[in-house]
Amino acid sequence: MSTRTVPALRARKVRDGSEPLVMVTAYDAPGARQAHAADVDMILVGDTLAMVVLGHEDTLHVTIDDMAHHVAAAARAKPSALLIGDLPWLSYHVSDEETVRNAAHLVRAGAAAVKLEGGRKRLGAIEAILDAEIPVMGHLGLTPQSIHAVGGFKVQGKQLDAARAIVDDAVALAETGCFAIVLECVPDAVARIVTDSVSVPTIGIGAGRHCDGQVLVYHDLLGLEDRIKPKFVRRYASLKADSTEAVARYADDVRAGRFPSSDETYHVADDVAEALGLFGAAPA
Ligand code: KIV
Repeated sequence: MSTRTVPALRARKVRDGSEPLVMVTAYDAPGARQAHAADVDMILVGDTLAMVVLGHEDTLHVTIDDMAHHVAAAARAKPSALLIGDLPWLSYHVSDEETVRNAAHLVRAGAAAVKLEGGRKRLGAIEAILDAEIPVMGHLGLTPQSIHAVGGFKVQGKQLDAARAIVDDAVALAETGCFAIVLECVPDAVARIVTDSVSVPTIGIGAGRHCDGQVLVYHDLLGLEDRIKPKFVRRYASLKADSTEAVARYADDVRAGRFPSSDETYHVADDVAEALGLFGAAPA
């Protein structure tokens, strides 16, 4: 499996004959190992960490230290996919200096690039990070870190002005130097115009097929998270149901005395058993 680099990924436009890019989130070493074995192009250690791993209701509750902790875990799997660390809320909003330091924190933890949410108003932050030689992925459409400002997890860009703003934001991000742009929850027609308007790949999630790649959250695609199922999620497994059943079978076996069996138990040699006076005691 070839190691993915930012320059190689930046060039992957479907209109130029490239295969669509595959990105998946992962939050730890086993997840990153699976993504590597499945030969995905990019692994995003997303701030969805807050919701799918840490049990919060939104993404606003993770810090840069939380993100670095999980980036480091995913990086230990040494995936050939490009490992991208998500900058959490308030890690790139205060000052350029703090922004660069936070991006560097994720790079030192093992990320090869960072992602941040927002359009033209984040160009200063993006320029500062790029200036420190750290590649940046943009994120437009539904930007969950703005959930309170936009009033919930809703499809964005349905009205003309909003659609035009997303296209203008995307052009600005690409011109500033983002190597790819995530488009989350936008109508497919808007995603298509954005994809046609920028020279870097668009990676869709709830943005239809006219993107240069797709991303899904690990827990959604594996059915580990089954409380809600957004329209755009396709489940490729039912791991929550499978693992609940497995844990229930284990519990039954323990309660019924079927676990552990003799084969699952360490035994002393016969001479030691004899010396311990164990022969004639309860069967092993
Ligand atoms: O944090 C995340 O998982 C994301 C994806 C939904 C793109 O930003």
